Amino acid sequence: MFKSIFYGLAFAAVATPAFAQDVSTPQWRPTYHFTPPQNWTNDPNGLIFLNGKYNLYFQNNPFENKWGHMSWGHATSTDLVHWDNLPVAIPEIVTKDTTTYIYSGSAVLDKNNTSGLGKDGKGPLVAIFTADKPKQHNESQYIAYSNDGGLSYTQYAGNPVIDLDKKDFRDPNVFWYEPTKQWIMTVAMVDEHMVRIYGSKNLKQWTRLSDFGPAGYTKSGWECPSMVPLVVNGDKSKVKWVLFVSAFTDRGPGMQYFVGDFDGTNFKSDNSATETLPVDGGDAFYAAIPWRLANHKATLMGWLVPGKPDTYPWRGQMSIPRDLSLRATSEGLRLIQQPAITIKDKLNTLSADGVFAMESTDLRDKEVPLPKAGKTNAYWIDAEFAMADVKVAGFKIAQNKDLPGNDIIIGYDAIKQQLFIDCTNAEKNNKQPANHIQAVHMRPMKLLNGLVKIQLLVDRNSVEVFGNDGEKVITTEIYPDAKSTGVSVFGNYVNVSLKLWRMDK
Ligand code: FRU
Repeated sequence: MFKSIFYGLAFAAVATPAFAQDVSTPQWRPTYHFTPPQNWTNDPNGLIFLNGKYNLYFQNNPFENKWGHMSWGHATSTDLVHWDNLPVAIPEIVTKDTTTYIYSGSAVLDKNNTSGLGKDGKGPLVAIFTADKPKQHNESQYIAYSNDGGLSYTQYAGNPVIDLDKKDFRDPNVFWYEPTKQWIMTVAMVDEHMVRIYGSKNLKQWTRLSDFGPAGYTKSGWECPSMVPLVVNGDKSKVKWVLFVSAFTDRGPGMQYFVGDFDGTNFKSDNSATETLPVDGGDAFYAAIPWRLANHKATLMGWLVPGKPDTYPWRGQMSIPRDLSLRATSEGLRLIQQPAITIKDKLNTLSADGVFAMESTDLRDKEVPLPKAGKTNAYWIDAEFAMADVKVAGFKIAQNKDLPGNDIIIGYDAIKQQLFIDCTNAEKNNKQPANHIQAVHMRPMKLLNGLVKIQLLVDRNSVEVFGNDGEKVITTEIYPDAKSTGVSVFGNYVNVSLKLWRMDK
Protein backbone atom coordinates (compact mmCIF):
# COMPACT_ATOMS: atom_id res chain seq x y z
CA MET A 1 0.00 0.00 0.00
CA PHE A 2 1.35 3.40 -1.01
CA LYS A 3 0.74 4.98 2.35
CA SER A 4 2.83 2.58 4.35
CA ILE A 5 5.67 2.45 1.80
CA PHE A 6 5.88 6.21 1.34
CA TYR A 7 5.30 7.30 4.89
CA GLY A 8 7.77 4.62 5.98
CA LEU A 9 10.35 6.33 3.75
CA ALA A 10 9.32 9.77 4.96
CA PHE A 11 9.68 8.76 8.59
CA ALA A 12 13.05 7.13 7.87
CA ALA A 13 14.11 10.43 6.32
CA VAL A 14 12.99 12.26 9.43
CA ALA A 15 14.90 9.87 11.66
CA THR A 16 18.17 10.43 9.76
CA PRO A 17 17.71 13.85 8.25
CA ALA A 18 19.99 14.91 5.43
CA PHE A 19 19.33 18.44 6.70
CA ALA A 20 18.56 19.17 10.32
CA GLN A 21 14.80 19.45 10.51
CA ASP A 22 14.58 23.08 11.55
CA VAL A 23 17.12 24.49 9.10
CA SER A 24 15.27 26.58 6.60
CA THR A 25 15.70 25.70 2.91
CA PRO A 26 14.71 28.80 0.91
CA GLN A 27 16.65 27.50 -2.11
CA TRP A 28 13.94 24.84 -2.51
CA ARG A 29 10.85 26.97 -1.78
CA PRO A 30 8.78 27.07 -4.99
CA THR A 31 7.88 30.53 -6.29
CA TYR A 32 4.95 29.70 -8.59
CA HIS A 33 3.73 26.37 -7.24
CA PHE A 34 1.55 26.05 -4.16
CA THR A 35 3.09 25.11 -0.84
CA PRO A 36 1.61 25.83 2.57
CA PRO A 37 3.58 28.61 4.32
CA GLN A 38 4.61 26.01 6.86
CA ASN A 39 4.12 22.35 7.76
CA TRP A 40 3.22 19.26 5.85
CA THR A 41 0.95 18.80 2.85
CA ASN A 42 0.05 15.85 0.68
CA ASP A 43 -2.97 15.39 -1.64
CA PRO A 44 -5.04 18.27 -3.02
CA ASN A 45 -8.63 17.95 -1.77
CA GLY A 46 -12.03 19.50 -2.50
CA LEU A 47 -10.94 21.40 -5.63
CA ILE A 48 -13.83 23.73 -6.47
CA PHE A 49 -14.06 26.89 -8.57
CA LEU A 50 -16.48 29.36 -6.96
CA ASN A 51 -17.21 33.02 -7.72
CA GLY A 52 -14.03 33.48 -9.73
CA LYS A 53 -11.83 31.78 -7.15
CA TYR A 54 -10.06 28.45 -7.26
CA ASN A 55 -10.50 26.80 -3.86
CA LEU A 56 -7.74 24.41 -2.92
CA TYR A 57 -8.13 22.28 0.18
CA PHE A 58 -5.23 20.00 0.94
CA GLN A 59 -4.14 17.19 3.23
CA ASN A 60 -2.37 19.06 5.99
CA ASN A 61 -0.71 18.50 9.32
CA PRO A 62 -1.36 21.89 10.94
CA PHE A 63 1.21 21.29 13.69
CA GLU A 64 4.26 19.58 12.22
CA ASN A 65 6.40 19.30 9.14
CA LYS A 66 5.60 15.61 8.68
CA TRP A 67 2.51 13.50 7.97
CA GLY A 68 0.03 13.36 10.88
CA HIS A 69 -3.05 15.04 12.45
CA MET A 70 -4.62 14.91 8.99
CA SER A 71 -6.87 17.92 8.39
CA TRP A 72 -7.97 19.96 5.41
CA GLY A 73 -5.85 23.08 4.94
CA HIS A 74 -7.31 25.78 2.69
CA ALA A 75 -6.11 28.39 0.18
CA THR A 76 -7.77 30.31 -2.65
CA SER A 77 -6.48 31.94 -5.81
CA THR A 78 -7.80 33.80 -8.84
CA ASP A 79 -4.75 33.09 -11.05
CA LEU A 80 -3.47 29.72 -9.75
CA VAL A 81 -0.13 31.33 -8.84
CA HIS A 82 -0.84 33.73 -5.95
CA TRP A 83 -2.59 31.98 -3.08
CA ASP A 84 -4.40 33.43 -0.07
CA ASN A 85 -3.71 31.16 2.86
CA LEU A 86 -6.78 30.57 5.00
CA PRO A 87 -7.36 28.83 8.33
CA VAL A 88 -7.70 25.04 8.48
CA ALA A 89 -11.17 24.31 7.08
CA ILE A 90 -11.76 20.81 8.50
CA PRO A 91 -9.61 19.83 11.50
CA GLU A 92 -9.04 16.26 12.70
CA ILE A 93 -11.75 15.17 15.14
CA VAL A 94 -10.28 14.49 18.56
CA THR A 95 -12.34 13.02 21.40
CA LYS A 96 -11.10 11.65 24.69
CA ASP A 97 -10.98 8.07 23.34
CA THR A 98 -10.14 8.43 19.72
CA THR A 99 -8.92 10.51 16.80
CA THR A 100 -10.49 10.72 13.37
CA TYR A 101 -8.27 11.92 10.55
CA ILE A 102 -9.81 13.92 7.71
CA TYR A 103 -8.45 12.09 4.69
CA SER A 104 -8.77 13.00 1.02
CA GLY A 105 -12.02 13.85 -0.70
CA SER A 106 -13.92 16.43 -2.70
CA ALA A 107 -16.26 19.40 -2.32
CA VAL A 108 -19.42 20.33 -4.23
CA LEU A 109 -21.74 23.32 -4.29
CA ASP A 110 -25.18 21.93 -3.45
CA LYS A 111 -26.91 24.90 -5.04
CA ASN A 112 -30.42 23.37 -4.93
CA ASN A 113 -29.93 22.38 -1.31
CA THR A 114 -30.56 18.68 -2.09
CA SER A 115 -28.92 17.87 1.23
CA GLY A 116 -31.13 20.23 3.23
CA LEU A 117 -27.94 21.40 4.98
CA GLY A 118 -28.11 24.95 3.57
CA LYS A 119 -29.14 28.09 5.39
CA ASP A 120 -31.50 30.98 4.66
CA GLY A 121 -32.61 29.53 1.33
CA LYS A 122 -29.04 29.12 0.11
CA GLY A 123 -27.43 25.79 -0.74
CA PRO A 124 -24.31 24.82 1.23
CA LEU A 125 -20.90 23.70 0.12
CA VAL A 126 -20.57 20.04 1.01
CA ALA A 127 -17.25 18.29 1.55
CA ILE A 128 -17.24 14.52 1.08
CA PHE A 129 -14.16 12.81 2.50
CA THR A 130 -12.80 9.73 4.20
CA ALA A 131 -12.86 9.59 7.98
CA ASP A 132 -9.86 7.48 8.90
CA LYS A 133 -9.96 5.99 12.41
CA PRO A 134 -6.52 4.53 13.02
CA LYS A 135 -7.45 2.93 16.36
CA GLN A 136 -10.51 1.19 14.92
CA HIS A 137 -8.78 0.30 11.62
CA ASN A 138 -11.77 1.77 9.88
CA GLU A 139 -12.26 4.07 6.90
CA SER A 140 -15.76 5.34 6.12
CA GLN A 141 -17.13 8.25 4.09
CA TYR A 142 -18.25 11.40 5.91
CA ILE A 143 -19.79 14.67 4.81
CA ALA A 144 -19.44 18.14 6.33
CA TYR A 145 -21.16 21.35 5.23
CA SER A 146 -20.25 24.99 5.02
CA ASN A 147 -22.59 27.97 4.95
CA ASP A 148 -19.82 30.56 5.00
CA GLY A 149 -18.46 30.00 1.50
CA GLY A 150 -16.10 27.19 2.41
CA LEU A 151 -14.13 28.78 5.25
CA SER A 152 -15.43 26.48 7.96
CA TYR A 153 -17.35 23.20 7.92
CA THR A 154 -19.72 21.47 10.32
CA GLN A 155 -19.64 17.69 10.55
CA TYR A 156 -23.01 16.18 9.50
CA ALA A 157 -24.70 14.60 12.54
CA GLY A 158 -25.66 11.45 10.57
CA ASN A 159 -22.06 10.50 9.65
CA PRO A 160 -20.82 8.14 8.33
CA VAL A 161 -22.78 8.27 5.08
CA ILE A 162 -21.09 5.07 3.80
CA ASP A 163 -19.41 2.51 6.05
CA LEU A 164 -18.47 -0.94 4.75
CA ASP A 165 -16.57 -1.81 7.92
CA LYS A 166 -13.33 -1.78 5.95
CA LYS A 167 -9.81 -0.68 6.75
CA ASP A 168 -8.90 0.67 3.29
CA PHE A 169 -11.83 2.32 1.53
CA ARG A 170 -11.17 5.93 0.68
CA ASP A 171 -10.92 9.18 -1.27
CA PRO A 172 -14.50 9.91 -2.48
CA ASN A 173 -14.72 12.25 -5.46
CA VAL A 174 -18.22 13.58 -6.14
CA PHE A 175 -19.87 15.49 -9.00
CA TRP A 176 -23.40 16.29 -10.21
CA TYR A 177 -24.60 14.17 -13.15
CA GLU A 178 -27.39 16.07 -14.87
CA PRO A 179 -28.90 13.28 -17.09
CA THR A 180 -29.98 11.23 -14.05
CA LYS A 181 -30.16 14.25 -11.74
CA GLN A 182 -28.00 12.77 -9.04
CA TRP A 183 -24.66 13.05 -7.32
CA ILE A 184 -22.08 10.48 -8.42
CA MET A 185 -19.20 9.34 -6.22
CA THR A 186 -16.09 7.40 -7.22
CA VAL A 187 -14.26 5.92 -4.24
CA ALA A 188 -11.29 3.55 -3.96
CA MET A 189 -11.61 -0.07 -2.87
CA VAL A 190 -7.89 0.11 -2.24
CA ASP A 191 -6.79 -3.51 -1.91
CA GLU A 192 -9.31 -4.84 -4.46
CA HIS A 193 -7.90 -2.41 -7.11
CA MET A 194 -11.41 -1.28 -7.83
CA VAL A 195 -13.29 1.98 -8.07
CA ARG A 196 -16.77 1.75 -6.57
CA ILE A 197 -19.39 4.07 -8.06
CA TYR A 198 -22.24 5.32 -5.89
CA GLY A 199 -25.24 7.57 -6.65
CA SER A 200 -27.23 9.85 -4.34
CA LYS A 201 -30.09 12.35 -4.56
CA ASN A 202 -29.10 14.21 -1.39
CA LEU A 203 -25.42 13.50 -0.55
CA LYS A 204 -26.58 11.66 2.58
CA GLN A 205 -28.02 8.35 1.31
CA TRP A 206 -25.85 6.60 -1.23
CA THR A 207 -26.73 3.65 -3.48
CA ARG A 208 -24.06 1.41 -4.93
CA LEU A 209 -24.26 1.60 -8.74
CA SER A 210 -21.30 -0.41 -10.04
CA ASP A 211 -17.64 -1.39 -9.67
CA PHE A 212 -14.82 -0.71 -12.11
CA GLY A 213 -11.67 -2.86 -12.03
CA PRO A 214 -9.36 -4.49 -11.35
CA ALA A 215 -7.77 -3.22 -14.58
CA GLY A 216 -4.50 -1.73 -15.80
CA TYR A 217 -1.86 -1.42 -13.08
CA THR A 218 -2.84 -3.51 -10.05
CA LYS A 219 0.44 -4.23 -8.26
CA SER A 220 -0.35 -1.88 -5.38
CA GLY A 221 -3.32 -0.26 -3.68
CA TRP A 222 -5.57 2.08 -5.67
CA GLU A 223 -6.14 5.56 -4.24
CA CYS A 224 -7.78 8.88 -5.16
CA PRO A 225 -10.04 7.94 -8.10
CA SER A 226 -11.84 10.67 -10.05
CA MET A 227 -13.78 10.82 -13.30
CA VAL A 228 -14.32 13.70 -15.76
CA PRO A 229 -15.92 14.18 -19.17
CA LEU A 230 -13.48 15.73 -21.70
CA VAL A 231 -13.84 17.09 -25.21
CA VAL A 232 -12.08 15.15 -28.02
CA ASN A 233 -9.95 17.12 -30.53
CA GLY A 234 -11.60 20.37 -29.47
CA ASP A 235 -14.93 19.20 -30.92
CA LYS A 236 -17.57 20.05 -28.30
CA SER A 237 -19.99 17.48 -29.73
CA LYS A 238 -17.51 14.65 -28.95
CA VAL A 239 -17.16 13.90 -25.27
CA LYS A 240 -15.51 10.90 -23.63
CA TRP A 241 -14.89 10.16 -19.96
CA VAL A 242 -11.53 9.75 -18.26
CA LEU A 243 -11.09 7.88 -14.99
CA PHE A 244 -7.92 8.61 -12.98
CA VAL A 245 -6.40 6.32 -10.34
CA SER A 246 -3.24 6.73 -8.23
CA ALA A 247 -1.01 3.83 -7.17
CA PHE A 248 2.56 3.37 -6.02
CA THR A 249 4.70 1.70 -8.71
CA ASP A 250 8.19 0.22 -8.72
CA ARG A 251 9.36 3.58 -10.15
CA GLY A 252 7.71 5.56 -7.35
CA PRO A 253 4.36 7.30 -6.99
CA GLY A 254 2.30 7.10 -10.20
CA MET A 255 -1.08 7.61 -11.80
CA GLN A 256 -2.92 5.81 -14.59
CA TYR A 257 -5.97 6.76 -16.61
CA PHE A 258 -8.73 4.96 -18.46
CA VAL A 259 -10.62 6.50 -21.40
CA GLY A 260 -14.21 5.36 -21.87
CA ASP A 261 -17.89 6.05 -21.38
CA PHE A 262 -20.01 6.70 -18.33
CA ASP A 263 -23.76 6.12 -18.67
CA GLY A 264 -24.81 7.27 -15.22
CA THR A 265 -24.27 3.81 -13.72
CA ASN A 266 -21.23 2.10 -15.24
CA PHE A 267 -17.84 3.30 -16.45
CA LYS A 268 -16.76 1.23 -19.47
CA SER A 269 -13.09 1.55 -20.44
CA ASP A 270 -11.79 1.50 -24.02
CA ASN A 271 -8.18 0.88 -22.87
CA SER A 272 -6.53 -2.18 -24.32
CA ALA A 273 -6.26 -4.99 -21.79
CA THR A 274 -2.49 -5.17 -22.29
CA GLU A 275 -1.57 -1.51 -21.93
CA THR A 276 -1.52 0.75 -18.89
CA LEU A 277 -1.73 4.46 -19.65
CA PRO A 278 0.42 6.58 -17.29
CA VAL A 279 -0.63 10.17 -16.61
CA ASP A 280 2.97 11.29 -15.98
CA GLY A 281 6.29 9.62 -16.81
CA GLY A 282 8.09 10.82 -13.67
CA ASP A 283 8.11 9.78 -10.04
CA ALA A 284 6.41 12.64 -8.20
CA PHE A 285 2.93 13.39 -9.59
CA TYR A 286 0.32 11.74 -7.36
CA ALA A 287 -3.22 11.89 -5.97
CA ALA A 288 -4.29 14.44 -8.59
CA ILE A 289 -7.96 15.44 -8.84
CA PRO A 290 -9.72 17.91 -11.15
CA TRP A 291 -11.32 21.29 -10.84
CA ARG A 292 -14.49 20.75 -12.89
CA LEU A 293 -15.11 23.86 -14.96
CA ALA A 294 -17.92 24.85 -17.37
CA ASN A 295 -18.24 23.25 -20.85
CA HIS A 296 -16.53 19.95 -20.04
CA LYS A 297 -13.32 21.73 -19.10
CA ALA A 298 -11.21 20.38 -16.28
CA THR A 299 -7.92 21.38 -14.67
CA LEU A 300 -5.96 18.72 -12.82
CA MET A 301 -3.73 19.37 -9.83
CA GLY A 302 -1.53 16.77 -8.16
CA TRP A 303 0.68 16.49 -5.13
CA LEU A 304 4.42 16.30 -5.92
CA VAL A 305 5.67 13.67 -3.52
CA PRO A 306 8.84 15.00 -1.83
CA GLY A 307 12.20 13.29 -2.25
CA LYS A 308 14.39 12.41 0.67
CA PRO A 309 15.98 15.72 1.78
CA ASP A 310 13.87 17.67 4.25
CA THR A 311 12.54 21.03 3.23
CA TYR A 312 11.72 23.51 5.97
CA PRO A 313 9.47 25.14 7.17
CA TRP A 314 7.16 23.32 4.74
CA ARG A 315 7.16 19.85 3.22
CA GLY A 316 5.24 18.88 0.08
CA GLN A 317 4.07 20.98 -2.86
CA MET A 318 1.43 20.91 -5.59
CA SER A 319 2.02 20.48 -9.33
CA ILE A 320 1.37 23.17 -11.87
CA PRO A 321 -2.38 22.94 -12.59
CA ARG A 322 -2.89 21.17 -15.94
CA ASP A 323 -5.73 21.84 -18.41
CA LEU A 324 -7.05 18.53 -19.70
CA SER A 325 -8.38 17.40 -23.07
CA LEU A 326 -8.39 14.31 -25.29
CA ARG A 327 -6.70 13.88 -28.65
CA ALA A 328 -7.32 11.12 -31.20
CA THR A 329 -4.01 9.40 -32.06
CA SER A 330 -3.13 6.32 -34.08
CA GLU A 331 -3.08 4.41 -30.78
CA GLY A 332 -6.50 5.61 -29.65
CA LEU A 333 -7.73 8.54 -27.56
CA ARG A 334 -4.98 9.97 -25.38
CA LEU A 335 -4.94 12.46 -22.51
CA ILE A 336 -3.47 15.90 -23.27
CA GLN A 337 -2.22 17.95 -20.30
CA GLN A 338 -1.10 21.54 -20.72
CA PRO A 339 -0.01 24.03 -18.07
CA ALA A 340 -3.18 25.95 -17.15
CA ILE A 341 -3.94 28.66 -19.70
CA THR A 342 -4.91 30.91 -16.77
CA ILE A 343 -1.19 30.99 -15.86
CA LYS A 344 0.28 30.79 -19.37
CA ASP A 345 -1.70 33.83 -20.52
CA LYS A 346 -0.17 35.94 -17.73
CA LEU A 347 3.47 34.89 -17.97
CA ASN A 348 4.63 38.29 -19.24
CA THR A 349 3.31 40.00 -16.14
CA LEU A 350 4.17 37.18 -13.73
CA SER A 351 7.79 37.18 -14.82
CA ALA A 352 10.46 39.28 -13.10
CA ASP A 353 11.60 40.92 -16.33
CA GLY A 354 9.12 39.97 -19.04
CA VAL A 355 9.93 37.58 -21.80
CA PHE A 356 13.37 36.72 -23.18
CA ALA A 357 13.19 35.36 -26.73
CA MET A 358 15.71 33.40 -28.80
CA GLU A 359 14.73 33.24 -32.45
CA SER A 360 15.65 30.42 -34.77
CA THR A 361 19.22 29.85 -33.51
CA ASP A 362 21.59 27.19 -34.80
CA LEU A 363 23.21 25.35 -31.90
CA ARG A 364 26.50 24.56 -33.62
CA ASP A 365 28.38 25.25 -30.39
CA LYS A 366 26.40 22.44 -28.82
CA GLU A 367 25.66 24.33 -25.63
CA VAL A 368 24.45 27.94 -25.26
CA PRO A 369 24.07 29.39 -21.76
CA LEU A 370 20.81 31.18 -20.97
CA PRO A 371 22.00 33.65 -18.32
CA LYS A 372 18.54 35.23 -18.16
CA ALA A 373 17.03 32.01 -16.89
CA GLY A 374 17.87 31.21 -13.43
CA LYS A 375 19.31 33.24 -10.67
CA THR A 376 17.31 31.01 -8.38
CA ASN A 377 16.10 28.02 -10.39
CA ALA A 378 12.61 29.43 -11.01
CA TYR A 379 11.71 29.83 -14.67
CA TRP A 380 9.43 28.69 -17.48
CA ILE A 381 10.71 27.94 -20.99
CA ASP A 382 8.63 27.28 -24.14
CA ALA A 383 10.91 25.93 -26.87
CA GLU A 384 10.71 24.41 -30.31
CA PHE A 385 13.58 22.36 -31.72
CA ALA A 386 13.99 21.52 -35.42
CA MET A 387 15.79 18.23 -34.95
CA ALA A 388 17.07 17.33 -38.48
CA ASP A 389 19.52 14.43 -37.99
CA VAL A 390 20.46 15.39 -34.48
CA LYS A 391 20.55 12.81 -31.75
CA VAL A 392 19.65 14.63 -28.57
CA ALA A 393 18.67 18.21 -27.82
CA GLY A 394 17.34 20.01 -24.79
CA PHE A 395 18.42 21.80 -21.63
CA LYS A 396 20.99 21.37 -18.91
CA ILE A 397 19.83 22.89 -15.66
CA ALA A 398 21.14 23.39 -12.13
CA GLN A 399 24.60 23.93 -13.62
CA ASN A 400 27.48 25.14 -11.47
CA LYS A 401 30.90 25.96 -12.91
CA ASP A 402 32.55 24.86 -9.67
CA LEU A 403 30.79 21.52 -9.82
CA PRO A 404 30.92 20.57 -13.48
CA GLY A 405 28.88 17.53 -14.45
CA ASN A 406 26.46 18.00 -11.60
CA ASP A 407 23.57 19.11 -13.77
CA ILE A 408 20.19 17.69 -14.69
CA ILE A 409 19.50 17.09 -18.38
CA ILE A 410 16.04 17.49 -19.88
CA GLY A 411 15.34 16.94 -23.54
CA TYR A 412 14.36 14.84 -26.49
CA ASP A 413 16.26 11.83 -27.80
CA ALA A 414 15.48 11.53 -31.51
CA ILE A 415 17.07 8.11 -31.83
CA LYS A 416 15.10 6.56 -28.99
CA GLN A 417 12.14 8.85 -29.76
CA GLN A 418 11.79 9.76 -26.13
CA LEU A 419 11.21 12.80 -23.99
CA PHE A 420 13.36 12.52 -20.87
CA ILE A 421 14.63 13.95 -17.59
CA ASP A 422 18.04 12.59 -16.63
CA CYS A 423 19.07 13.14 -13.00
CA THR A 424 21.96 10.64 -13.07
CA ASN A 425 24.70 13.26 -12.46
CA ALA A 426 22.77 15.04 -9.74
CA GLU A 427 21.97 11.76 -8.02
CA LYS A 428 25.60 10.69 -8.13
CA ASN A 429 27.38 13.94 -7.32
CA ASN A 430 24.91 16.17 -5.56
CA LYS A 431 25.29 16.52 -1.81
CA GLN A 432 21.49 16.47 -1.57
CA PRO A 433 20.33 13.86 -4.10
CA ALA A 434 16.59 13.32 -4.27
CA ASN A 435 17.13 9.55 -3.92
CA HIS A 436 15.03 8.67 -6.92
CA ILE A 437 14.35 4.96 -7.33
CA GLN A 438 15.43 5.55 -10.92
CA ALA A 439 17.40 8.61 -12.00
CA VAL A 440 16.21 8.66 -15.63
CA HIS A 441 12.57 9.23 -16.54
CA MET A 442 11.37 8.74 -20.13
CA ARG A 443 8.18 8.81 -22.19
CA PRO A 444 7.94 7.73 -25.82
CA MET A 445 7.09 10.62 -28.14
CA LYS A 446 7.29 11.11 -31.91
CA LEU A 447 8.74 14.08 -33.79
CA LEU A 448 6.11 16.15 -35.59
CA ASN A 449 7.52 16.94 -39.07
CA GLY A 450 11.02 17.01 -37.62
CA LEU A 451 9.96 19.33 -34.79
CA VAL A 452 9.73 18.78 -31.07
CA LYS A 453 8.15 21.19 -28.62
CA ILE A 454 9.32 21.30 -25.03
CA GLN A 455 7.83 23.31 -22.19
CA LEU A 456 10.14 23.26 -19.20
CA LEU A 457 8.86 24.44 -15.83
CA VAL A 458 11.56 24.58 -13.18
CA ASP A 459 10.60 25.82 -9.74
CA ARG A 460 13.49 25.36 -7.30
CA ASN A 461 12.42 21.95 -6.06
CA SER A 462 10.59 20.55 -9.08
CA VAL A 463 10.93 19.99 -12.82
CA GLU A 464 7.89 19.49 -15.04
CA VAL A 465 8.44 18.91 -18.74
CA PHE A 466 5.57 18.95 -21.25
CA GLY A 467 6.30 17.53 -24.72
CA ASN A 468 4.50 18.37 -27.97
CA ASP A 469 1.75 20.56 -26.52
CA GLY A 470 0.97 18.33 -23.59
CA GLU A 471 1.09 14.95 -25.31
CA LYS A 472 3.60 13.65 -22.74
CA VAL A 473 4.51 14.97 -19.30
CA ILE A 474 7.33 14.07 -16.90
CA THR A 475 7.61 15.44 -13.36
CA THR A 476 10.25 14.94 -10.71
CA GLU A 477 11.64 16.61 -7.59
CA ILE A 478 15.16 18.07 -7.55
CA TYR A 479 17.44 19.42 -4.79
CA PRO A 480 20.15 21.63 -6.33
CA ASP A 481 22.13 23.83 -3.96
CA ALA A 482 21.58 27.59 -3.98
CA LYS A 483 24.54 28.20 -6.31
CA SER A 484 23.68 25.59 -8.93
CA THR A 485 21.35 27.69 -11.05
CA GLY A 486 22.95 27.76 -14.52
CA VAL A 487 20.86 26.82 -17.54
CA SER A 488 21.93 26.10 -21.10
CA VAL A 489 20.29 24.85 -24.24
CA PHE A 490 22.15 22.18 -26.22
CA GLY A 491 22.01 20.07 -29.34
CA ASN A 492 24.18 19.42 -32.35
CA TYR A 493 23.05 21.31 -35.46
CA VAL A 494 19.66 21.92 -33.99
CA ASN A 495 17.67 24.96 -34.77
CA VAL A 496 15.96 26.27 -31.65
CA SER A 497 13.44 29.01 -30.97
CA LEU A 498 12.46 29.68 -27.40
CA LYS A 499 10.81 32.01 -24.97
CA LEU A 500 11.85 32.19 -21.37
CA TRP A 501 10.25 33.79 -18.34
CA ARG A 502 12.04 34.21 -15.03
CA MET A 503 9.53 33.34 -12.32
CA ASP A 504 11.17 34.57 -9.13
CA LYS A 505 9.61 38.01 -9.08
C1 FRU B 1 -2.77 9.42 -0.89
C2 FRU B 1 -3.41 9.14 0.47
C3 FRU B 1 -4.91 8.99 0.35
C4 FRU B 1 -5.37 9.34 1.74
C5 FRU B 1 -4.40 10.43 2.13
C6 FRU B 1 -4.03 10.45 3.60
O1 FRU B 1 -1.57 10.08 -0.80
O2 FRU B 1 -2.83 7.98 1.05
O3 FRU B 1 -5.33 7.72 -0.09
O4 FRU B 1 -6.70 9.78 1.77
O5 FRU B 1 -3.22 10.22 1.36
O6 FRU B 1 -3.24 11.56 3.91
